Amino acid sequence: MKKIIAPSILSADFTKLGEEVDAIKQAGADWIHVDVMDGHFVHNLTLGIPIVEALARTNPPPLDIHLQIEAPESFSEKFIDAAGDSILGITLQYETCKLLHGSLSTIKARGVSAGVAISPMTPISVLEEVIEYVDMVLIMTVEPGFPGQKFIESMADKVGMLREIIDGLEHRPLIQVDGGIKLENIKLIADAGADSIVSGSGIFGTSDYAETISLMRNEMES
Ligand code: DX5
Ligand code: ZN
Repeated sequence: MKKIIAPSILSADFTKLGEEVDAIKQAGADWIHVDVMDGHFVHNLTLGIPIVEALARTNPPPLDIHLQIEAPESFSEKFIDAAGDSILGITLQYETCKLLHGSLSTIKARGVSAGVAISPMTPISVLEEVIEYVDMVLIMTVEPGFPGQKFIESMADKVGMLREIIDGLEHRPLIQVDGGIKLENIKLIADAGADSIVSGSGIFGTSDYAETISLMRNEMES
């Protein structure tokens, strides 16, 4: 299956967001990863509903919304509404959900992808019950909170372990990997079993988005 490349809009130039969306779409992005942060779960405050509404007006690639916020259940439907027809899905952080089944059910009831993300120090074992219920599992390969961090090498094994588990299941959620992924290490992650790969500074930090994405695809297929 073709690997999905999901550039994180958080690393785009916010003085020209509409142009950046067009540029990344022309460059071959499959999805746009939208990093929502509330300054409580993580020590950063990024973007909210108005920005997602604005993104939705640009006819973007599908919006893959990553809620790094406390009590995400109170916002997931608002983001689904804000994204409108551009919504791909909502990914919640395991660490912020007290009632994970209910929070995921709310998203699934809206007919969009329901994902769960785990931070680097959260073991895969916590997903035992939820893995058959979600559409996507996101393995964070940096501590949530900021773009431009260094990829945590040991997370490649975690991706491989999850790949093995999911390949033995009837229901096979996608594996998404997010954090510190660049041209230099994308093959490692793709070979470990990622289906969808997020890259923020690794794409928006380069001068030619199309060239970067094309080189990333070549790396993954080589
Ligand atoms: C971190 C976010 C990531 C990050 C990716 O909390 O979830 O999506 O913005 O940016 P890079 O690719 O630069 O690590
Ligand atoms: Zn993210």
